[in-house]
Amino acid sequence: MSAHLGSITGSRVQMRNLTKEYGIVRAVDNVSLDIEPGEFISLLGPSGSGKTTALMMLAGFERTTSGTIHIGEQDVTLVPPFARGIGMVFQSYALFPHMSVYDNISYPLKLRRMSKLEIDERVRRAMDMVKLPPDKFANRLPQQLSGGQRQRVALVRALIYEPHVLLMDEPMGALDKNLREELKLELLSLQERLRLTIVYVTHDQGEALMLSNRAAVMRDGRIEQVANPEALYRRPQTEFVANFLGEANLVPVEQSSEREFTLPDGQVVRSSPDISVDPSQSYLLLLRPEEIEVCAEAEAMLRGRIQSTVYLGSSIRIDVDTPIGVLTVVAKPNQSRRFERNQIVGLRFATGDAVLVPKEARAG
Ligand SMILES: Nc1ncnc2c1ncn2[C@@H]1O[C@H](COP(=O)(O)OP(=O)(O)OP(=O)(O)O)[C@@H](O)[C@H]1O
Ligand SMILES: [Mg+2]
Repeated sequence: MSAHLGSITGSRVQMRNLTKEYGIVRAVDNVSLDIEPGEFISLLGPSGSGKTTALMMLAGFERTTSGTIHIGEQDVTLVPPFARGIGMVFQSYALFPHMSVYDNISYPLKLRRMSKLEIDERVRRAMDMVKLPPDKFANRLPQQLSGGQRQRVALVRALIYEPHVLLMDEPMGALDKNLREELKLELLSLQERLRLTIVYVTHDQGEALMLSNRAAVMRDGRIEQVANPEALYRRPQTEFVANFLGEANLVPVEQSSEREFTLPDGQVVRSSPDISVDPSQSYLLLLRPEEIEVCAEAEAMLRGRIQSTVYLGSSIRIDVDTPIGVLTVVAKPNQSRRFERNQIVGLRFATGDAVLVPKEARAG
């Protein structure tokens, strides 16, 4: 590989009908996903949904039970990890504790028998890239670094031999909120410059929404929906995705005509024309908290009693008991307006372009 860090371009990654079984546990169940060259894709899902297992199969650390993996043009299903052209960053930094930052980073290059001079040039350039000036950090041991700095070293070590695909498993998991925000921005700018393909595992929907070109929402080993962040948030196709991608008010509705649906209090909403409705299916109206406005009672569609309020700094989260159920609303704090328990408030929301999701059948 002769390309320098500045010119890496990612490979296409294709998973075809991937399944992984551990005895009777089917950790990944017939997953197919095409990832574009240079795409940042997240595998997003709750604990145990199969994200790590899918990533480990991509990396080659787990064998597939069935299905195939292509990276670029090559079928890598049976290719060992080191020959797949991938870099990997784990949740726990996995640095060698007894080696300096410099040695940790240069290790993969030494394995590849690169000249000392070239190694030195690459390590220094890479450290600059993630804002770890070599003169300050090269000789430190991992234990002499903060968590965020350690994670940057792990990132550089994964990038140093110029992989075409970078796999990351909850890389921010051990970091505090500010460090996470900082590293996320850095990762975005790295991605912009390097344009490598990134598969990023997380259970944090905010992370996935912020970082990804697309996210695949996983549940019980399967992909429930793959889409860009806005589509996942605004047009979830299932109740599970609606709930997983942030707070969701889901109000039961009855279909009254082709595009009209009646709320429990008799009011009518019109569904978005791009939502196809199956008459034999029950639907829920999705209202994100920020889509509901607290307003004067005279202008309200609904009146309700405040059940609880939570102060969040830049906003206030309010649960309001209304004739169509308890609705969670997010309001801006305002000097002149206070919200208190048991207060009666008016609410309104748009009744056109309503987003409906199929109600999930539940056992019992
Ligand atoms: N080596 C193993 N042997 C048996 N079952 C396993 C093994 N590894 C994973 N599993 C099971 O496979 C399922 C998926 O696990 P996986 O680690 O992929 O989940 P995950 O989505 O990464 O979860 P988390 O967010 O908690 O990391 C789980 O039910 C898990 O218990
Ligand atoms: Mg995991």
